[in-house]
Parts: sequence; C-alpha cells; structure tokens
Amino acid sequence: MSSHSAPQVAVSGKAKALQGAAIVPGDKSISHRSLIFGALAVGETTVTGLLEGEDVLRTATAMEALGAKVEREAGVRTRIWGRGIGGFREPSDVIDMGNSGTSARLIAGLLAAYPFTSFMTGDASLRRRPMARVITPLSTTGAKFVSREGGRLPLAITGTPIPVPLNYTSPIASAQVKSAVLLAGLHAPGTTIVTEPSLSRDHTERMLRYFGANVETVGTTVKLVGQPELTGKNLVVPADPSSAAFLVVAALLVPGSHITITNVGTNPLRTGLFDTLKEMGAALTFKNERMECGEPVADLDVKYSALKGVVVPAARAPSMIDEYPVLAVAAACASGSTRMEGLSELRVKESDRLTAIADGLAKAGIVANVDGDTLTVTGGKVKGTSSPIAVNLDHRIAMSFLVLGMVSDGSIAVDDASPIATSFPGFAALMNRLGADISGAP
Ligand code: S3P
Repeated sequence: MSSHSAPQVAVSGKAKALQGAAIVPGDKSISHRSLIFGALAVGETTVTGLLEGEDVLRTATAMEALGAKVEREAGVRTRIWGRGIGGFREPSDVIDMGNSGTSARLIAGLLAAYPFTSFMTGDASLRRRPMARVITPLSTTGAKFVSREGGRLPLAITGTPIPVPLNYTSPIASAQVKSAVLLAGLHAPGTTIVTEPSLSRDHTERMLRYFGANVETVGTTVKLVGQPELTGKNLVVPADPSSAAFLVVAALLVPGSHITITNVGTNPLRTGLFDTLKEMGAALTFKNERMECGEPVADLDVKYSALKGVVVPAARAPSMIDEYPVLAVAAACASGSTRMEGLSELRVKESDRLTAIADGLAKAGIVANVDGDTLTVTGGKVKGTSSPIAVNLDHRIAMSFLVLGMVSDGSIAVDDASPIATSFPGFAALMNRLGADISGAP
C-alpha cells in the first residue's frame, strides 16, 4: 500500500532511444472483472496475467470480505473459489476501495443485490469522486444508499434480497455505471437492460458471456438475463492498452526509438488513442492479432515518428477516456495544435485531469487551453519544470509528465510518484530498461 504522508518525488530526464521488447502489466478493467466474476462463479477460476496493482488488490480484498476465497501466487497466477450468484455474506468491516473508482462502483452494484448492510470508503481522491451516477440507478432496484453530500464516499448500502431488473438509460457513456447495473441485474429475476449514449468499454459483457451468461448487445443497448449459473473458468488477462499507451507515446517522441509491446488488449472500445496517434502520423502497427478469452490482443510495434496536430472528436472519448493525459503529452511535441473535444468526464477522474494537464503543460512551457470541455494543446519546445508537477493522487498524471520529461530540455519532476503503483507497478524500471532516465518512481 502506498503512503501519502511522505510524497515520493520522481524526476525524468532526457531518454536515450528506446529499444527492445516490453511486457506491460495486465489490463486493469479486465483484472477487476476477472476477480469479481471468479467470486460470483461456482467452482474455481484461475487467472494469469492479473494486474497486481493496488487498485485490483482492493477488489481482491473486497471479494474476500464477501466470502470468496482468493489465493494469489504473485507474478504467477491467482485462483478464486467463487460463492455463486446470491452467495455473498455480509462483510464484517468497512471495505476500503483505496484509489479505485472501478472497485467502488462495480462492487456497489453487487452490494445492492444482497439483503445486508455494508460500508465502503476510499482515499482522499476517491472520496471526492461522484457516486450518484451509480446510486441513482441502483436505488431503483430497491437498495438503499446513505452517502456524504453529493453522493460521495463513505457510503452505506443496504441491499435488497430480490433486486428489480432495471431498464436504465444512462446519461453518460460509462462502463462503471453500465457494469454496476449489470452486476445488480445478475441477481435479478428477469432481464436487465442498459442503454448508453454511446458504447463504453464492453469487458463486462464479454466476460459475462465467457462465464456462461446470456448477454445481448444491440446498438448501444445491453440486455442481460438474470440469475444465470456462472461456472469457474481459466482466464488470461491481456496487457493493458492504457499502460502500453505511456510506452507507445514515449517511443514515438524519443528520436531513434523502436519498441515492441507484446500481448496488448486491442478491444476496439479501448483503442481510440492508437487510432488518434496513427492520424497524427505515428508508425504504430498491430502485429500477430488474435483472440484471448473473448478479447482481441496484438503485439504493438512502435517507431519514433514526427507527429502533427489533429482534431479528436467527442465521439471518440469513451474509447480513450484514460489516455488524454498522455495524448496531451504527444500533442505537446507535435507540429501544430491538437484539439480534443468532449472531455467533461476528465473532471471526475482520479483528479480533475483537464486542469492537471493544462497546468502541468503550462509549467513545462507548452501552451494548453481549456475552453468548456475542449482542450487544445499547441506543440512547442518543452522546457522542463523548476518545481514539481502536482499529481493529486492521480497515477496517469504522474506517468504522463514523466514521459514528457523524457523529451524536455530540462528535467521534469512530479511531486508524488506513489500513485503509479495503483495501475503500473514497475513503470520506471521498465522505462529505464528501454532507455529512459527516471529516478525515484516505482
Ligand atoms: C473503467 C471505466 C472508465 C475508466 C476507468 C476504468 C472500467 O471509467 O476511466 O479507468 O474498468 O469500467 P468510467 O466508467 O467512469 O468512464
């Protein structure tokens, strides 16, 4: 667990050309879901490639608190013995979700479907983030929620023994909201229907099918038949495209680089950044494309490229929602301006990322403007910073600015590198092995 009492400063200096093959940690979204569905299935589930970052370990602990057995052989495999749908027991203490919005929102959906009261909290970042987006639909199943002002954690949830199957139209494209409703719906007698304004990542639906549930997707509507029997499975988690993104952008920016990142998830609802970088002129190719446990994967081949600014339409936001910080770093080094539209959701991530990106880039000498929910970054000379960039408990802000430091004239420091461990343990060591010069980061 990271301690935030003594912030850990990390500094990134100019990198040598990045070279070689790399493996990045397992996909965070798929890792959370493999633990949750393993805990809901009957029998044993074995997961290889699980992301052993702090966020995912919060989900593992929560599944144990609900009665599932989780046995982790670090770096090898994780085995889960599930309780079956309806089989969870009352947790004996408050469940601490740490920094993990995915744990909090998905598990709120589960807890809504059990006739006991449970409590959840999180770190200072998670306690600022909106939970009303799940409380609103889940309350209509019959579950009761008590939260702090504005639907913030800590949260008390008294579930309902027989959740009403919902037909919910979500105002936002959010996989966390969709998944929370589907997880409650798994316990409901009937069909749960969720419609989104545009499709968010569909790992929940794919994994439900893989475990044996009846799930249908028509346009932006998902239908799930409740109370299936899920059976334990063997799962292989692909590498996280959102983590690979930092290596991809670094290799594109550092002259002379050529790297391969193996076994990366290429679900089309996650690859908006890669599409955008290709439009910007990136030499980025998917090799050896294949399917693994219901998810597409490929090896990414990336070479240094001169990038040019583009317009990134709002419609692409759901497929690259976590990648705007590192896209902004690429844009800072591209010729011309990059305009990124439809970014209101960035305000409610681990930090207010719109402000964090704009302030951090300005500090490093790059012109970045926020106008409503549009961010425009104009490429230019990256000077480096005289004082550290504020990370505000946000792993992706920390990693993005460390990537920017790899190509800046002076070095770039971030004031707290410890949040990196939530999603990308070993980030600095891996980057340094490829040619970077990052000190003080995990
Ligand atoms: C996630 C969904 C996205 C994403 C987050 C992980 C998930 O959040 O930003 O990092 O695993 O379902 P939203 O559902 O809020 O868009």
